[in-house]
Amino acid sequence: MPFTRVGKTQVAGLEGQRILLGVSGGIAAYKAAEVLRRLQDEGAQVRVVMTASALHFVGPTTFQALSRQPVRSSLWDEAAEAAMGHIELARWATRILVVPATANVIARLAQGRANDLLSTLCLASEAPLTLAPAMNRVMWAHPATQANVATLVARGVELIGPAEGDQACGEVGAGRLVEPDQIVAALVASARPGRLAGKRVLVSAGPTFEDIDPVRFIGNRSSGKMGFAVAAAARALGAEVTLVAGPVSLATPAGVRRIDVRRAAQMRDAVLGELAGHDVYLGAAAVADYAPARTMPQKIKKSGETMALELVRTADILAEVAAHPQRPALVVGFAAETQDMEAYARDKLQRKGLDMIAANDVARAGQGFECDDNALSVFWHDGRRDIPHGSKPRVARDLMALVADRLEGGK
Ligand code: CTP
Repeated sequence: MPFTRVGKTQVAGLEGQRILLGVSGGIAAYKAAEVLRRLQDEGAQVRVVMTASALHFVGPTTFQALSRQPVRSSLWDEAAEAAMGHIELARWATRILVVPATANVIARLAQGRANDLLSTLCLASEAPLTLAPAMNRVMWAHPATQANVATLVARGVELIGPAEGDQACGEVGAGRLVEPDQIVAALVASARPGRLAGKRVLVSAGPTFEDIDPVRFIGNRSSGKMGFAVAAAARALGAEVTLVAGPVSLATPAGVRRIDVRRAAQMRDAVLGELAGHDVYLGAAAVADYAPARTMPQKIKKSGETMALELVRTADILAEVAAHPQRPALVVGFAAETQDMEAYARDKLQRKGLDMIAANDVARAGQGFECDDNALSVFWHDGRRDIPHGSKPRVARDLMALVADRLEGGK
């Protein structure tokens, strides 16, 4: 796991980091105290800034006691400004983390406003910004919030969550704060670049198109976005990445070597041809299980009321990779399930001889095929980890952190 309680011999994941913890006004504000403690467990120095509305939910004393630093909430506090001016505080931070990030804070940050201390610090700092949103599910889903979030993500702001589940308002849906240990785990994962330096990662992505004739094919709804995000996340951790891509019109992630293919058979040839020397294979492609027995050289003309198409099984690339003499140290499969996710995923893990499988529930709205978001349940022989709902790049980063853990022999 990227998050480890720090024992005497362990290296803390956030050693040397100076984190400015922004707390904004939502019911989940009390959970920021637990985040603060866990950040400290990971070796970070933390200073807390609260918005005026956060003060309605939780008092500053808790944060002050835990951080052993004065808590600031106003731009106009002369004593605090004299001790450490807000520009100095903005420069001090190596990262700004806002927990919880309300719809209001997200809106203000998207607009680049500087109308209180926290928003001013975010604007005046060059430190990376991470937000853990928490709000009522309707507020989260509102196009205004989604547009603000898209603006921030496009600017490189990292989002952790929100998670789905019971909400303080009695509703159920996306908008819950991700649990404090998972917030810190995600931060640790993104604070440790270079974890895969020297490793070679092979990723398959996208659908395959199996041609029936020159104008028709059998395809599927895979957009390739998850596999491309996985390739980008592996690259961000320093790996040398080869991406075997089915027919998609996505830009190649920076620094990634790409091989384009169309059919399952071509994907198999490309993957097996590249296998030697790779440490990890991630099969994110939605490979056709069956392909037409023959591809007709000319367009098939209609005749008769019915038409039978003979299909033959394609080779299972993932299983072949797992059984290959040049098998990478870690073979990771993906599973799209609509029911009994864990049972089916674990069956695939076993049956195909994998080290890890990342399953998603494609029956749930707003994740998986043709979506920008995803959520994964990742299984390995003696473990499981749920990666909460988030953008595909966010989810891919968490998945690659888990992959790096497994490569390092962690649990
Ligand atoms: N896969 C592959 N080659 C195939 C088919 C699938 O490499 N010919 C890989 C995919 O890249 C993915 C995993 O296998 O990593 C998905 O497993 P699969 O058994 O194909 O899943 P489903 O199609 O969902 O299986 P089932 O039809 O049994 O539900």
